[in-house]
Amino acid sequence: MAHEDPGKEPSWKADFPIESKRATHVSRREFAKFLGLLSGAFAVSNGFIVLRAMAFPPEKLEGEQFVANVEDVPVGEMFQFEVGEEKIIPYILIHLEEDQWRAFAQKCTHLTCAVRYSKEEKKIECPCHNGWFSADTGAVLQGPPPRPLPQLEVVVRDGKVYVKEGES
Ligand code: FES
Repeated sequence: MAHEDPGKEPSWKADFPIESKRATHVSRREFAKFLGLLSGAFAVSNGFIVLRAMAFPPEKLEGEQFVANVEDVPVGEMFQFEVGEEKIIPYILIHLEEDQWRAFAQKCTHLTCAVRYSKEEKKIECPCHNGWFSADTGAVLQGPPPRPLPQLEVVVRDGKVYVKEGES
């Protein structure tokens, strides 16, 4: 096999005479087109998320569901769990004070990012767009979320924490 001289231009370049400067050049128009397509795709995916949430409302929880032992969730901590027939709907259990517990859906009501309890702020934070919810009621405190977080009622019995659908 013949080796080419390393200092010499490879022979294939003569067959494909493209200037590397031109090959990597992206015009302003092409870049604007790319940005337009990207934002269009983003808008479509957001619309899809909203439509899916409207078409499939969260299923109701039947009866009580065991979540955790009291001793496993210290005051100020959060515990993530799932509910529903197939255990795929994420919720968070928050141990607010000694005898105060709350359970909220973990999906932000804006664009369904996962929310988390901030022990320092004593509020629920959505890191996607700086949305904040009350850890007491789930009400929106700040940011773009349009609705409060769905909430479950918490029942503590014999050192165990259960959740169930609220009365309202
Ligand atoms: S998804 Fe939560 S604030 Fe946007």
